[in-house]
Amino acid sequence: MVKYNKNSIFKKNFLWGSSTSSHQVEGRTFNQWSVWELENAHRLAHKPYSYLKTLSNWDEIKDKVHNPANYVSGEGVDHYNRYKEDFKLLKELNLNTFRFGIEWSRIEPAKGVWNQEEINHYHEYIDELIKKGINPILNLWHWTMPVWFTDEGGFAKSKNLRYFKQYVKKITQEYGSKLDYIITINEPNVYASYSYLTGTWPPQEKNVIKFVKVFYNLARAHRQAYKVIKSINPKIKVGVANQVANIQAKRPHNLFDELSTKWMRYFWNWWFYIRIRNYQDFLGMNYYFTDYYTGRIEKKNPELPLSDNGWYMEPEGLYPIILRAWTRFKKPIIITENGLADMNDEHRQWWLDESILAMERAISEGVELEGYLHWSLLDNFEWDSGWWPKFGLVEVDREDNMKRIIRPSAKWFASRIKELDLK
Ligand code: BGC
Repeated sequence: MVKYNKNSIFKKNFLWGSSTSSHQVEGRTFNQWSVWELENAHRLAHKPYSYLKTLSNWDEIKDKVHNPANYVSGEGVDHYNRYKEDFKLLKELNLNTFRFGIEWSRIEPAKGVWNQEEINHYHEYIDELIKKGINPILNLWHWTMPVWFTDEGGFAKSKNLRYFKQYVKKITQEYGSKLDYIITINEPNVYASYSYLTGTWPPQEKNVIKFVKVFYNLARAHRQAYKVIKSINPKIKVGVANQVANIQAKRPHNLFDELSTKWMRYFWNWWFYIRIRNYQDFLGMNYYFTDYYTGRIEKKNPELPLSDNGWYMEPEGLYPIILRAWTRFKKPIIITENGLADMNDEHRQWWLDESILAMERAISEGVELEGYLHWSLLDNFEWDSGWWPKFGLVEVDREDNMKRIIRPSAKWFASRIKELDLK
């Protein structure tokens, strides 16, 4: 019997948390992304950015957008050294869960060579979370890889899957006894598309065959990881964090729009989950987008409201996507990411409020929802957009000794969680 507390429809042990990834916050990483950033910072700073220029906040962001330093992760937000301070923030925000990344390139800097100091670092890191009563959700792979691995072809080569498997084994042997949850792979659909189809991210390839191969290989990598983790500790709940969108037809009942909607839902939202169907204990869902599709598989979203980076915002779209995922897979669901770029904190409270309502509606329909992890705890390095988009519940001033300042919306979120009497 699921226990609900009297004031709220959320389960007593609902996971209220936030998410991060190693490369985006730690600082001083050395992986294929950090190498690529240094090679591409100048080019990225000089792109025309005609779309961003149409946004109302262009004046506020333009200097950063055109500054090559924006595109280098560098010191990050020094989370590697300041994690204890950051975990105190989690407590202040009444959060009980934290999804964090392990940086593979630190643990295995050369093929088959394990760095004991770094292994110890993550032991201390996880121990600190547990000491504070925060549930650690370990994420194994969030797009960054040791350079030796990408030099051998990365996930585009099936023979390289054995290296990932070794890494998974090592991590589970080390930390498995301390964990209830492991997420293997973050957003395989986004990674495969941007790195091998549109050619935007490293290794910047535009190759449909490789794209398909990478997508399949990531599914295989997950299945292998699942088996390895379960053989070491069958109690750990294992899943992926896939990006899902609330995909809708632009013109309802228009045959072509409905067909492209069906195709996009299948390809973007479900394909990966289907490939790993019998190898996941929960569905990890990263939700950012509601997208309206025309018959030409083109997005035609309403013009407003937009977040700082011009993404159309429809937070309530979380409800239909949760419901559809539940109907299809009947597995517990965790919202593993959800959030927005909002430097002036104008929309975040509304977004959080709508997201909570959407989850309440889903739970009331019988969905087993286990948790909600907001993206992100801290302002972080937003890949090829760099530092200017601000996703943090907590602002980080990189020009003032990495000072952390809790945003008003985050304070509101903390009190809302408390009101729901979940602590
Ligand atoms: C990614 C994060 C990223 C976030 C916001 C997600 O797709 O998993 O790494 O920071 O979107 O852009």
